[in-house]
Amino acid sequence: MADTPDARPLRDRSEVTIDFDHHDPKLSADRAAAGHELRQCPVSWTESHGGYWVFSAHEQAQEVGKRADVFASGNDHGNGPRQGLNIPFIATAAGGVIESDAPRHTQVRRQMGPWFSQDTVQTQRAQMTEDVDYFIDQIIERGEADLVKDLAGPFPGLVTLRLLGLPVEYYQPFSDILHKTVYLSPGTPEREAVDGELLWLAGEVWQWIEKKKADPKSDYLTALTRMEIDGAPMKPEEVLVEAILTIGAGLDTTTSLMGHTFRWLSRNPEAKTWLMEDPARLGPACEEFLRMASPITATARTVMKDHVVRDFELKAGDRVWMYWHAANHDPAVFECPDEVRLDRKQNRHVAFAAGPHRCLGMRYARAEWAAMVTQVLTRMPDFVVDDDAVVPVPDVSLTGGFISMPVRFTPGRRVGPGVLSETIPGKTPRTGGE
Ligand code: HEM
Repeated sequence: MADTPDARPLRDRSEVTIDFDHHDPKLSADRAAAGHELRQCPVSWTESHGGYWVFSAHEQAQEVGKRADVFASGNDHGNGPRQGLNIPFIATAAGGVIESDAPRHTQVRRQMGPWFSQDTVQTQRAQMTEDVDYFIDQIIERGEADLVKDLAGPFPGLVTLRLLGLPVEYYQPFSDILHKTVYLSPGTPEREAVDGELLWLAGEVWQWIEKKKADPKSDYLTALTRMEIDGAPMKPEEVLVEAILTIGAGLDTTTSLMGHTFRWLSRNPEAKTWLMEDPARLGPACEEFLRMASPITATARTVMKDHVVRDFELKAGDRVWMYWHAANHDPAVFECPDEVRLDRKQNRHVAFAAGPHRCLGMRYARAEWAAMVTQVLTRMPDFVVDDDAVVPVPDVSLTGGFISMPVRFTPGRRVGPGVLSETIPGKTPRTGGE
């Protein structure tokens, strides 16, 4: 039998085989509790979906993220095609920079970077505030609304459409479709029905790729059409995948972060006042909500070469499920991990992962969150979420947020016509226009 690097004998995975499936509704009930249970044995193995390792400690989160030479994100390593971030394979959710490895990943990511820099995001802040105000205007006179359906759901979709240079009217249908793709379990009839809607979305984006090539603009979609891999332009189908990934990656995640924030603030109203007393408190608070909510519950990797982790030998081709949410609640790193401490110091959370695939859109996510939370706390500060009516997503294996979050507040006044006044919100455009 082989030895560990410090000469202890390796252990067999049968010792840590557990009955676990990340698509099980039990996980949805309480992601943190499930994480604590799993962390009793932070490296374990399940036979579900063809078998995979389950990692739940912060130490392994760092290793999985940073050792991209061992833990690959790419989607074809002789282990069957499209074996990237999802277990099991979901065809319509695969591909793009997030499911590629060096050298492709390095090349593409370098070209994308400037579009997601702090300076770029800074130029969007005023627009974000205006957009949030537009959405609040639609509900402010009613005194009741749905924080997810009316605010946290559509707003990130709108921001991403602006980044890509796509018509803003798409915000509602695109948001609806992409939310469903992540929270419905793969293989279910409901999830399969969404594939047709995804095809429609892809067709719309495809038309816009053609338009941007014919009539380039200074937007991210035009930039994608000009990106190169090994000196050759990215193929149109690769551009399509990257565009859809951008829309999808920024939607449910940011919506989920806002949803968790609102529910917690509603339960802890004194924290609303405390946050608004000093804008400098928003930054650390955002990091704490990111840690607590961990909008991306987990993602998967493929082991590229035999590798020892905590006395277990992982074999090339093995699959790994990295439970980022559990890592963010690891008591070895975070004091009282299930408590929200808005001024938590040295918050080493991995909500955006770690290593070369660390979230490209994290500065957008933070800025969107700040715009939303600031405007909601300013314009509807006494909001109270109807806890009993909140509808969480049914499958939290990829992201863990809410479908619906009814809320009541003291009605207020509209602040202006808003940037979408020329469009009909919720209308599904069949032909786009700038
Ligand atoms: C709270 C909000 C967000 C969270 C928690 C989040 C989380 C993550 C995580 C965990 C990853 C790495 C996945 C892995 O490799 O296993 C990732 C990658 C990525 N995210 Fe985000 N994300 C958020 C918002 C956004 C936004 C707003 C955008 C775009 C506008 C975005 C675009 C991307 C892209 C393109 C990648 C792939 C990066 C790469 O593979 O190099 N994300 N995100």
